Amino acid sequence: MEQEKIKKRKIMLIGTGFVGMSFAYTMLNERGIDEMVLVDVNTDKAEGEAMDLNDGLVYANSKMKIKAGSYEEDAADTDVCVLTAGAAQKPGQSRLELVKINANITKGVCESLKANGFHGILLVANNPADIMTYVAWKTIGLPQNQVIGSGTVLDTARLRHSLSRFLGFADSNIHAYIMGEHGDSSFVPWIHTYIGCKSLLEYLDENNISLQELQDIYIEVRDKAYAIIERKKATYYGIGYALKRIVDAILNNEHCILPVSSYQNGEYNRSGLFIGTPSVVGSNGIERIMALPLNENDQNRFNASFDTLEKTIRDNLG
Ligand code: 2OP
Repeated sequence: MEQEKIKKRKIMLIGTGFVGMSFAYTMLNERGIDEMVLVDVNTDKAEGEAMDLNDGLVYANSKMKIKAGSYEEDAADTDVCVLTAGAAQKPGQSRLELVKINANITKGVCESLKANGFHGILLVANNPADIMTYVAWKTIGLPQNQVIGSGTVLDTARLRHSLSRFLGFADSNIHAYIMGEHGDSSFVPWIHTYIGCKSLLEYLDENNISLQELQDIYIEVRDKAYAIIERKKATYYGIGYALKRIVDAILNNEHCILPVSSYQNGEYNRSGLFIGTPSVVGSNGIERIMALPLNENDQNRFNASFDTLEKTIRDNLG
């Protein structure tokens, strides 16, 4: 049944704004997808975007069918649905400030998906992403493993890129994860970072680099979305590729470790919400969470991040 579901490879994008379309554009070179359906409250926009993407197909690697669709026609046989619909941050605004407006949108979308028989994997990327993933899960009634948030996959890409530049190793050799909220309370458990298979902390010692230098890089990474939004009003290419990475892991049943936003069942001593933790992703969605032993400092940071999400939900969504 699972295999059959994946073989059909139909993906649905909800929200054809900059983030959604950056993701859709990256999928044009993806050979393994039969159909990509675009859904937006603005049906003209979805149709126009589908027309425009179709113009690229002749010169792209894929021969997928791309169309503007609807929940009624397309939800029931969609394998992976990517939710990007919602308001985006304005300059100076935090992700958490979007919670009320985007919770309403997320709820509406998930009610429509549910009413029309969607039973695939749902990937949630609208901000604040961890909270929207929780709202989506509460509304849609799917098992925990089938609802995934984009989590800190983008933050982690930013960190690996910056560390790679600073340390002079390929980004593929930088094994480091940002954990926690996709937002201001995220953190790096430095004790679990490696260059290839060498402990990064050992490497720092041997090369007279202070951990503070790396912590400064992390702060820049943490605030990078603000810096981009100040300059160009929005971020979309980075998150577009992060979403592609997660969708690839699902469609190809990769069992790869990504710091997506996963439902917590005590792996890091807390339960009941979604938050960025290294998790194994495959065709069933989240297969399991990698429970890293955190030192006291990192556990405190994890708790503070979890508390931030919990409080935001309590104060705004009651
Ligand atoms: C980002 O980190 C704004 O959440 C978005 O680029």
